[in-house]
Amino acid sequence: MVILGIDTSCDDTSAAVVRDGSVILSNIVSSQSEIHQKYGGIVPELASRRHLEMIWPVVDEALSGASLTLDDIDAIAVCHAPGLIGSLLVGCGFAKSLSFARAIPLVAVHHLEGHIYAAFLEGNPPVFPFLALIVSGGHTSLYRVEAFGRYHELGRTRDDAAGEAYDKVAKLLGLSYPGGPIIDRLAGEGDPRAFHFPRAYLPDTFDFSFSGLKTAVRNSIQKELRRADSMLSDGFRKDVAASFQEAVVDVLVRKVESAVDSCGIARVVLSGGVAANSALRSRMQTVAGERGIALHVPSVRLCADNAAMIAAAGYRHYCAGHRAGLDLNAKAYLPLGSPATEI
Ligand code: KG4
Ligand code: ZN
Repeated sequence: MVILGIDTSCDDTSAAVVRDGSVILSNIVSSQSEIHQKYGGIVPELASRRHLEMIWPVVDEALSGASLTLDDIDAIAVCHAPGLIGSLLVGCGFAKSLSFARAIPLVAVHHLEGHIYAAFLEGNPPVFPFLALIVSGGHTSLYRVEAFGRYHELGRTRDDAAGEAYDKVAKLLGLSYPGGPIIDRLAGEGDPRAFHFPRAYLPDTFDFSFSGLKTAVRNSIQKELRRADSMLSDGFRKDVAASFQEAVVDVLVRKVESAVDSCGIARVVLSGGVAANSALRSRMQTVAGERGIALHVPSVRLCADNAAMIAAAGYRHYCAGHRAGLDLNAKAYLPLGSPATEI
């Protein structure tokens, strides 16, 4: 069973070919970072235009990278929600056209379901039920995953997503976009105890909040700008990055630990762009080792947006007999686990 996956939910155009939901034959990601960098964030209109330009070349490259043609594809899996609506529409429209023109079955995949199923592309897949923390630029959500298609949201961010906080803090520090990988690198050279930024543990809930932390970082930066005549030294940037990152990681890891205790499930999937973070990965590994938690963290390239994860989830939909029609709609907002009728 060979699935062509397509993801255009945000600012990366991606297509992948995956066999049996687990073997990656190709996984092409065309990044738009250089387009959005000068604006310090994603410009939705520019993103969808670029997807339009790139979708065919990226799909072509995915097929040739797998040494296959469209004749070999059993189904197309497309991410239809959630995300930037103009971006999603490009992937959806393309996938529907291809499905119609070549009579290839189509399945619809929720973006967060894709991030969860990235863990099934790494060998040693997680055993149900498990907990899944998805941390990305658009989401910070914790799920109890009972089985394929059965997702119970334990908590989510009440304001900024973790990746959004990384990107905003990077902007405040005068760094480039996306800020996550830059802060990750700088943090390695800074002192995590230099600033005491707040941690919003929000007791009695699995929800998250990062806006207070972001405001505290902004206040520290403004104070330093006044003190140092509008200049930020490299040392200051590194210390802020390290202290900010420590606060984010403290909260994320503590929440996972309390979800493990409360649900009695010692299996955890960590995925999404922020799961590429070196401090988060290493702290989660340490805690998992100490507490006997089976931890599944996809490789860095599979944590970030990619179409192989969409194909992996699409394979399960296909096997379950789900099919999307030409009436498939892109949706900017759609909770994970919405009934198939909403798809
Ligand atoms: O999952 P993803 O590729 O796209 C969304 O679905 O949002 O996540 C992108 C986010 C960005 O906010 C980026 O800054 C963040 O992931 N990110 C990181 C790292 N690499 C990417 N954040 C912290 N540390 C990293 N190493
Ligand atoms: Zn994502």
